[in-house]
Amino acid sequence: MSEVSIDVHRDGAEVTEELRQDVREGLSAEVKWLPSKWFYDVRGSELFDRITTLPEYYPTRAEREILRARSAEIAAVTGARTLVELGSGSSEKTRLLLDAGTAGGALTQFVPLDVSESALSASAEAIAADYPGLSVRGVVADFTEHLDFLPGTAPRLVAFLGGTIGNFLPAERAKFFTSVRSVLAEGEWLLLGTDLVKDAGTLVAAYDDAQGVTAEFNRNVLHVLRTHLGADVDPIEFDHVAHWDEQQEWIEMRLRARRPLTVRIPGADLTVRFEEGEYVRTEISAKFRPEGVRAELADAGFAVRHWWTDAQQRFGLSLAQVRD
Ligand code: SAH
Ligand code: AVI
Repeated sequence: MSEVSIDVHRDGAEVTEELRQDVREGLSAEVKWLPSKWFYDVRGSELFDRITTLPEYYPTRAEREILRARSAEIAAVTGARTLVELGSGSSEKTRLLLDAGTAGGALTQFVPLDVSESALSASAEAIAADYPGLSVRGVVADFTEHLDFLPGTAPRLVAFLGGTIGNFLPAERAKFFTSVRSVLAEGEWLLLGTDLVKDAGTLVAAYDDAQGVTAEFNRNVLHVLRTHLGADVDPIEFDHVAHWDEQQEWIEMRLRARRPLTVRIPGADLTVRFEEGEYVRTEISAKFRPEGVRAELADAGFAVRHWWTDAQQRFGLSLAQVRD
């Protein structure tokens, strides 16, 4: 077993305070919304892992196909000594990058970062056990706030996989790319996974599976409000909705009230009223076009050196370098 450590940048009281503020802001808005990061407690992280195995949820399989084909090339081109993974979750596909990086000998450090302490510590321990000689330094943190201290020997490769970039609104994306750029030095690397625009049927099925796992994942945010803020909400009172917004080119996940409801949330000192059919937007999952990805990365100071897709062109993986 190699060296493993976990740095926690969020304590329980801070997390609850942040949740309280997000709930007060989002559920008082005219169109109600909640940030998608609140899905990921222990149960939410497990539900997400189940989603990745569903027949309808193609992004994980498509991205794994690309990584299987390209990891050796990524290791050779970048010569990365440190692999940083943002929103790492189970880091299951990342093992392809670790295999290739350690086989070549250059990769000595892995830094997975996630808000979900349960997912992070389980994967960091498992990877440390399976990759002797690789130093594993897990970080429990929010990637929209805590990138300034990213450890690791240069050259670093920052991986942001799974299409999680699509869970940001466009303005948040620009801010995120700029903040990643600002912690990297010239010549360092970003590996970005982006789900691609495709027919509405495939997209909606991926976010509204037949077994109802995505519906449970969506409702999990209500379980989080019950547990942490004492909300008196029964999750089953809300229907899961996956709506494809053709103009914005994103899937919007919603929780829609089945009947008029009053929800008391003592931990946020808030009472929220829902009319029948009124919904909370719980996540957007933007879908991309190659030229859009290139342009957004260029605006933040990255040059795309490689662009790969799976055989069915469902998912894109960009390898971008900080420009001089
Ligand atoms: N990268 C993995 C997991 C994707 S799921 C894959 O490709 O399968 C999204 C992951 O991002 C979850 O593990 C979740 O806990 C994490 N996450 C969501 N919002 C986050 C935030 N603001 N900061 C850090 N991690 C976050
Ligand atoms: C983590 N993220 C990229 C997933 C997605 O596809 O947007 C989260 C998810 N939401 C519903 N299913 C999966």
